[in-house]
Amino acid sequence: MKICRTKAELRETVKGFRANTETIGLVPTMGYLHEGHMTLVRTAKAQTARVITTIFVNPTQFGDPSDLNAYPRDEARDFAMLEAEGVDVVFAPAVEEMYDPSAQTMVETEKLANMLMGALRPDHYKGVCTIVAKLFNIAQADKAFFGEKDYQQLLVIKTMVRDLDIPVEAIGVPTVREIDGLAMSSRNVRLSPEDRQAALILNKALAYGDYEVADGREAAELESDIRAFIAREPRATVQSVDVRDATSLEVPTGKVTAPVVILLAATFGDVLLIDQRVCDPS
Ligand code: PAF
Repeated sequence: MKICRTKAELRETVKGFRANTETIGLVPTMGYLHEGHMTLVRTAKAQTARVITTIFVNPTQFGDPSDLNAYPRDEARDFAMLEAEGVDVVFAPAVEEMYDPSAQTMVETEKLANMLMGALRPDHYKGVCTIVAKLFNIAQADKAFFGEKDYQQLLVIKTMVRDLDIPVEAIGVPTVREIDGLAMSSRNVRLSPEDRQAALILNKALAYGDYEVADGREAAELESDIRAFIAREPRATVQSVDVRDATSLEVPTGKVTAPVVILLAATFGDVLLIDQRVCDPS
């Protein structure tokens, strides 16, 4: 497995793959890898000849510097996991390599990036789009793989790819869960044992919402019912519960008749967790 620290090294490596007409799959991550990331890697390996994984804790997508500093990091462990999985290249640059101090260009999908989680975390998706666009430009991949857990992120990235004619296919990969249903996340290690147990309420709330969608409820009613369901867990602080059209993320009117996505965000202690589920009423 080749480890590239600079853009020039990665570009050179990619040139070699391209010269051999090998297809390239890109798996962008912020490291501290878990089974969810490994599923992205395996999906990429199944679909492309070469796999590049990036590890970069991207400062421009963190509003709160303490959240950025608290983000878990373990490069040696990440490298070992990727090597064992047969990844071809890891791109793990320093912040100075990715962001010139005089940089003045950011990428924003105006509407999608500023609703829902984007309204709670201003500039978050602008930071995501900017780093992902840069990685797309450097890695020149045919396909790029993202978890469906951050559903809004996936739609934002797909929209950016479409709007900017970036020659890559952005592919969503279903959320990987722990055996008890908690969606895998690098943030889970920061949960106390009590909060780890309490966080199971999120997946239970999604199952409850799915049942209610099948039962023909209206979106607004669904949101308040799910909010009340999560509030039964005293350790959870609900940040947001949204039921939106699964393609446009617009608010559905009246009874839910087309697929919707239920998007949840809640804090347990100081750890913000998100989860989602697409529910089809038909
Ligand atoms: O989902 C993530 O881990 C990050 O938002 C991403 C896509 C790697 C960009 O920094």
